[in-house]
Amino acid sequence: MQHVRKKITVVGAGFVGSTCAHWAAAKELGDVFLVDINDGAAKGKALDLFEASPVEGFDSKVTGTADYKDTAGSDVVIITAGLPRKPGMSRDDLLATNAKIMKSVCEGVKEYSPNAVVIVVSNPLDAMAFVAKNVLGFPRERVIGMAGILDGARFRSFIAEEANVSVKDVQAFVLGGHGDTMVPMPRHCSIGGVPLTEMLSQDRIDALVDRTRKGGAEIVGLLKTGSAYYAPSASAVQMAEAILKDQKRILPCAAYLQGEYGVNDLFLGVLCKLGGKGMEEVVEIQLNETEKAGLQNSINAVNDLVAALEKLDY
Ligand code: LAC
Repeated sequence: MQHVRKKITVVGAGFVGSTCAHWAAAKELGDVFLVDINDGAAKGKALDLFEASPVEGFDSKVTGTADYKDTAGSDVVIITAGLPRKPGMSRDDLLATNAKIMKSVCEGVKEYSPNAVVIVVSNPLDAMAFVAKNVLGFPRERVIGMAGILDGARFRSFIAEEANVSVKDVQAFVLGGHGDTMVPMPRHCSIGGVPLTEMLSQDRIDALVDRTRKGGAEIVGLLKTGSAYYAPSASAVQMAEAILKDQKRILPCAAYLQGEYGVNDLFLGVLCKLGGKGMEEVVEIQLNETEKAGLQNSINAVNDLVAALEKLDY
């Protein structure tokens, strides 16, 4: 019988990867393969999650493996492999170690799932997406980084809490790199369709923007032994869902720019259309002078990171 269910591979069975597997299976996006060099961790977590399926009532087979052969023909691959940061570290401190890991993962993905859409989650995100694209050699439609949905979700949570409204009615997004220079876009936020600037004072908006920029570090500071995973994995799976169901959603993602915003050959967080082909379109929007300056600052930071990457022998 033809394999009609979609196939989703999640690389890395740590907190982010196993939680991705959890969301993807619970949403019945397809059968899920959890890959880790520690095959006991991959197999144990996958089996445990599969055993939850009769209770929760989801028809997704979950399989753990250390062998990319088992993942052959995946529709979507979510890469979470790599070390997380510890308190006091920036995402950029992970560059050298995670570049090596990303390279070896992408070699496995390229060999067995040459038609997959790949979603990169590992940090430093914009640089890891760059490594992935180089090693995979896939067109830009099929290599996308997850960051903007997460940063936007943090912003939306903080706005909802501040305004005492449902998170469902808060729209907001964040552009730029996934780092300290990210650019939350309050001018484009709304609560129930009403511009945020009409609902909250500028002081409060500024405070929420600042908290959003430091949102990842806030979690690292609390956890002490690692970084966030619920919101990052929910965000990655939202991308996978948009692709697997050809939803044509407009979501902020790290895309490989080719001329958009005057940027070439660099991953940067921008609004994208996600559908069956992957990153189907970069939606370029008009920026005011402040936003342009913020984005340029972020472009410079990502450029520096990629320059540092290119000096490494990974
Ligand atoms: C964060 C990490 C995962 O923002 O980059 O929480």
